[in-house]
Amino acid sequence: MNMTSKKEGQSLVSVRGLSKSFGAHQVLRNIDLDVHEGEVVALLGSSGSGKTTLLRCINLLEMPDYGEIEIAGNPIFKCSGEGQTRSSISQKQVNALRSRVGMVFQHFNLFPHMSVLGNVMEGPRTVLKEKPAENRERALDYLAKVGMSDFAERRPDRLSGGQKQRVSIARALNMRPKVMLFDEPTSALDPELVGEVLETMMTLAKEGMTMIVVTHELGFALEVADRVVFLNEGCVEADGPPGDVLLHPENERVQSFVNRFHATAELMRPLLQES
Ligand SMILES: Nc1ncnc2c1ncn2[C@@H]1O[C@H](COP(=O)(O)OP(=O)(O)OP(=O)(O)O)[C@@H](O)[C@H]1O
Ligand SMILES: [Mg+2]
Repeated sequence: MNMTSKKEGQSLVSVRGLSKSFGAHQVLRNIDLDVHEGEVVALLGSSGSGKTTLLRCINLLEMPDYGEIEIAGNPIFKCSGEGQTRSSISQKQVNALRSRVGMVFQHFNLFPHMSVLGNVMEGPRTVLKEKPAENRERALDYLAKVGMSDFAERRPDRLSGGQKQRVSIARALNMRPKVMLFDEPTSALDPELVGEVLETMMTLAKEGMTMIVVTHELGFALEVADRVVFLNEGCVEADGPPGDVLLHPENERVQSFVNRFHATAELMRPLLQES
């Protein structure tokens, strides 16, 4: 993808000096991150490095301690340091923000008592107060886009993991977000279902959706992402084009992270060939 034009575009997500602790444990340390319009950023790092916490701070599911966050030029959080007053936004503005920042979780989080269509229509119905007919029409369009048209009336418990995840992508899209955050969207799936979800995400990326994707799929990061951001113990250790960061890692920690993946792939190879 064309990095230059995206870099020159407007910064849709801007994070400055973001810090977050849980008790005495500092999980995010002075994070700077810019994501430009149409950019796909793969967020990588070992377990516990702070990836989920960073995504949750970006849509204020988690309240940061210090730093600044702007979405599409709108400040949503600002606190310059200890003892300083935080200026964060009102609940109404939080709702408006959430409607512009779509989030897809590892465990789908669909409403079990609603049909697939009901799930996709719920956000626009309750948060955006949209007219039912328009909401329904768009929901059906998004279900078609993720290949789930035939399942509109089904309950989530009668879907496969891959199907559930595609529904949750449609549900997030139906809020017409400016940016989509994905937190390990394929890691709870059986291996044979990973492809269909990655394919859906690839389509979104090609259409120009701005995306931050926490993933352990290095192939996806290499093929689809414009940039890889590598977190280690709450700090950004590397930030650059996927080929540079992953194929020629200069940073020691990125190197050992990538090597671990190669080692696992090598270990798995004979097992996969046997089955
Ligand atoms: N609500 C919480 N309360 C206390 N500690 C938390 C909370 N959420 C996360 N943590 C801690 O913060 C650290 C970072 O967690 P986070 O979930 O952001 O990591 P991650 O990079 O997403 O890891 P994984 O790859 O395992 O999902 C971990 O040590 C975790 O135990
Ligand atoms: Mg996580």
